[in-house]
Amino acid sequence: MKNVLIIGSTGQIGSELTMKLRGIYGGANIVAGYIPGAEPKGELLESGPAEIVDITNVQQIADAVEKYHIDTIYNLAALLSAVAEAKPQLAWKIGLGGLFNVLEVAREKKCAVFTPSSIGSFGDDTPKDKTPQDTIHNPHTMYGVTKVSGELLSDYYFYRFGVDTRSVRFPGLISYVTPPGGGTTDYAVDIYYAAAKGEKFICPIAAGTFMDMMYMPDALRAAIEIMEADPTKFIHRNSFNIASMSFDPEIIYNNIRKFMPDFQMEYQVDPLRQKIADSWPNSLDDTCARNEWGWKPEYDLDTMTKDMLARLKERFGK
Ligand code: SER
Repeated sequence: MKNVLIIGSTGQIGSELTMKLRGIYGGANIVAGYIPGAEPKGELLESGPAEIVDITNVQQIADAVEKYHIDTIYNLAALLSAVAEAKPQLAWKIGLGGLFNVLEVAREKKCAVFTPSSIGSFGDDTPKDKTPQDTIHNPHTMYGVTKVSGELLSDYYFYRFGVDTRSVRFPGLISYVTPPGGGTTDYAVDIYYAAAKGEKFICPIAAGTFMDMMYMPDALRAAIEIMEADPTKFIHRNSFNIASMSFDPEIIYNNIRKFMPDFQMEYQVDPLRQKIADSWPNSLDDTCARNEWGWKPEYDLDTMTKDMLARLKERFGK
């Protein structure tokens, strides 16, 4: 990676990945692509170039790639699962139409492409525990349909045209910088905000619902390490299971109470999110990522909780 374009640079992953890549490769070499209405601000704006790059506009992608001699594209534009259910047509347009645009530009200009997949690419028929790397998907959400189709399309561009496409299946991502919007795993971020503000948390996901989760620093490392990995060891490309922790609402609640014994939680289950969560795995088997490019998480629930609470309490002056 020398010159990188991040599409979706102001989103939950993009805002942190852009800054991390700028720290490694230099600010001038990492271009923050954004859409009007989601402009970069502060450090993100000041630390390097920014361009309007709407993933549904193939010309804007091609122009940015040309202008900055881009060799790697991080395609982070997406609607999360609950929003994608509310707007399935738009989710397809961004998730699949957008990916097609990125891959076409990458084919013509010889760029590598990273596009995240997700635990949401799996469905009701998938083995729930230690979900294997290669298994049945069959998602019944538009989010899942775009993710599993995106994996297939990305592999197609690799086998057919030699485009260097790589991907990981992210778990629910937890961070204190940019909040996610409209995902099923968002509760595991929101719960820390409530705790740090001293508020009671209303949990939209039922007790006993296990999902894979990951702290953002590990997710950023995964996104960078897979693009820097030696591809001669790859058996897979799109997309690798990665994992670090799996918990249900009771476990994260009790973990926070270890540090804040007065913290309170009450359940008000959201049927849409619950249905989506029930269709996703309890935990993924990430052996292939470990063997093929050395993936290894650093954070567990305890270390994540300590860090999240400290950072958010500082922000809220608690
Ligand atoms: N965090 C995503 C969501 O909940 C899953 O990848 O939609």
